[in-house]
Amino acid sequence: MQPLPGFRDFYPEELAFREAILSRWRGTARRYGFVEYDGPVLEPLDLYRKKSGSEILDQVYQFSDRGGRLVAMRPEITPTLVRMVRARHRDYRKPLKWFSIPQVYRYERAQRGRLREHFQWNCDILGEESREADIEVIALLIDSLRGFGLGPEDFVVRLSDRGFWARFFERHQVREEERYGLFQAIDKIERQPREKTEEALGPLAAPVFRLIEEGEPWEPVERVLAGLGARGLAPFAEQDYRVVRGLAYYTGTVFEAFDRQGAFRAIAGGGRYDDLLERLGGESMPAVGFGMGDVVLGELLREKGKLEATLPQPEISVIISEEEVRPAAVRLVQLLRDQGFSVDYPLHAAKPKKQWERAEAIGARHALGVDVRVIEGMVEFREMASRKSRLISLEAIGSLLQAARAEPEFPGESTTLGLPREGKG
Ligand code: HAM
Repeated sequence: MQPLPGFRDFYPEELAFREAILSRWRGTARRYGFVEYDGPVLEPLDLYRKKSGSEILDQVYQFSDRGGRLVAMRPEITPTLVRMVRARHRDYRKPLKWFSIPQVYRYERAQRGRLREHFQWNCDILGEESREADIEVIALLIDSLRGFGLGPEDFVVRLSDRGFWARFFERHQVREEERYGLFQAIDKIERQPREKTEEALGPLAAPVFRLIEEGEPWEPVERVLAGLGARGLAPFAEQDYRVVRGLAYYTGTVFEAFDRQGAFRAIAGGGRYDDLLERLGGESMPAVGFGMGDVVLGELLREKGKLEATLPQPEISVIISEEEVRPAAVRLVQLLRDQGFSVDYPLHAAKPKKQWERAEAIGARHALGVDVRVIEGMVEFREMASRKSRLISLEAIGSLLQAARAEPEFPGESTTLGLPREGKG
């Protein structure tokens, strides 16, 4: 029996890799002063019917529950966030700076970078209309990727603004109901043969291609770029009007992060969605945010060799040399665990040689050999890396292990975080 197409089993090594990504996401969000929330995996289908746009709706896992309700596995968390904020926003000071890491589900054709479930880090600022909020979430996105050791040679945030195309549609007298289809066609420009896009755009094809190829300054985009420049992040972002985003709810700034070579699908995407609260029946509240999946990012990090996740290893293996000392040994195990150390020990009688081999195989940092000398309060302390052993007293173990622990968990991590020397703006 295999898992369903597009679904993943996470064996311990894979889970360690996933956790390495998630813990860095959390760390970056907290550095920016964001707090974590979550919502239900299952939502009324209507929540997405109203808001997400046809592309996502076509991919929703939906079914009737036993009570006859039409429900959906969440394909994204933004509608849930908006529902939650709408219900309780008075309880919180604005702006809200919230993040979440939901597992989300989309019935897409499974391919490289696209699965039917993924973990998606979402960071959103609600209740703040100033451009600084757009800059802040994009800076957060950039900093999270920098935190993985990726630089401007590895990725870029492409930036646009729905207002740019709205003005274009006005100039060409495109009716409101035709606009979503045109946005979709522009969004797919890179993924589709030119003729297909030309067909979808009709008479607008020539001016659309001209605008994309020649560009045209658009103040909102320039201000965001300038704000990023002021933070020294200019090398990480570029104006690109091909980015419009498939989702229906964006109203202003839109952006997507891609690897520089263009070998992968989007690493992250987001934008401003100032109308969504009101459209879900609430008060109006400006909002801006993004989502970043673990799939494309994981592929990119693996390719660049940027994230080596190792399995958490026990700090201590207790070796029970003779069964008669087992009660003393398990007492020691318990004491060490009470002090917060992770400890492994043999669950059944085994030759000491086998136990030492296991200690090495599971990557324990230290081993404590317990034999009859424990009666005098002495055990063998071995540093596994150097294989050096010595006899120590039971009282000395705690402080010895504490001292060994003082080393950083991610040595060298901070060395990859140097700011670029020069930034425009
Ligand atoms: P989205 O562009 O649909 O945006 O998804 C965000 C990111 O999730 C993508 O850039 C990609 O990394 C990842 N992703 C999406 N679909 C898949 C898939 N099938 N397999 C693997 N990864 C995937 C949203 O969902 C918005 N709700 C984000 C947002 C938050 N906008 C404002 N706030």
